[in-house]
Amino acid sequence: MTAKTAVQQGSDLLAGAGISEPRLTAEVLLLHALHKERIYLFSHPEHELSTVEWIHYGRYLHERMQGKPTQYITRLQEFYGRPFRVSPAVLVPRPETEHTVEQALQVAPRAKTLLDIGTGSGALVVTLALELKARAVATDLSFDALQVARGNAAELAARVDFVQCDLAAGIQTRFDLIVSNPPYIPDAEIPGLQTEVRDFEPHLALAGGALGTEIYHRIVPQAERLLKPGGWLIFEIGYQGEAGVREAFAKGPWQDITLIHDLAGLPRVLRGRYTP
Ligand SMILES: C[S@@+](CC[C@H](N)C(=O)[O-])C[C@H]1O[C@@H](n2cnc3c(N)ncnc32)[C@H](O)[C@@H]1O
Repeated sequence: MTAKTAVQQGSDLLAGAGISEPRLTAEVLLLHALHKERIYLFSHPEHELSTVEWIHYGRYLHERMQGKPTQYITRLQEFYGRPFRVSPAVLVPRPETEHTVEQALQVAPRAKTLLDIGTGSGALVVTLALELKARAVATDLSFDALQVARGNAAELAARVDFVQCDLAAGIQTRFDLIVSNPPYIPDAEIPGLQTEVRDFEPHLALAGGALGTEIYHRIVPQAERLLKPGGWLIFEIGYQGEAGVREAFAKGPWQDITLIHDLAGLPRVLRGRYTP
């Protein structure tokens, strides 16, 4: 079978299983099976699949039809123009999270030290460490997530120290900038999530408690201990999270609290400046 036919058949199978973007997904999975870059499909549509390639491609299609996210099959997701390794131990970095990067670069372009709380794949901290040429620390409760993040930092040559701890409990030094995209989905919404998210992404990365904002109330006082005066705390928030996170900021010496919407018009980033 040729690559062109394999894409068509894979695309039909995925479409029949209700998978979104079936053609693109089939192409990505076939390229993964072939160990080739995207351009290859255009330059070699008549490539004859070997038995091994066909078996791998078939397995990837089957996994995707079962709901496994494409990124957990290819083990790769691009974030802010860089390739990040992912595994089922980490949340797949989302394009919306790039708004947190943009905000950090906008308000703290000269930050030389930064902390990322709940780093997952390390997408945020590695990107910011590289963009700001900053020294960074990142935490996560999950040992397996930290292993993935460490690998990404090493691969992309970012200067990041990783600490396994509850939020920032194990951190002592002060920073110019703290970012966090913590788990913020209210517990009651978890059963209604897409299969891809609910059944495949780590529960620890998703479940944010009864309201989904409790964790922010724990992070803000820790940030007061860890930010230099004038430093920024930048959160990604859920679409219903604004009021609860504003409340967390309101309890301390925070100014310039600003909400940023994402491209879909949803509240996405809430930032504040520590002014003791
Ligand atoms: C929503 S994911 C974000 C991952 C990554 N920062 C990103 O934006 O793609 C939240 C991360 O917080 C971690 N986490 C959850 N509870 C935590 C806690 N109490 N202390 C430290 N990390 C925690 C999870 O393991 C997960 O990696």
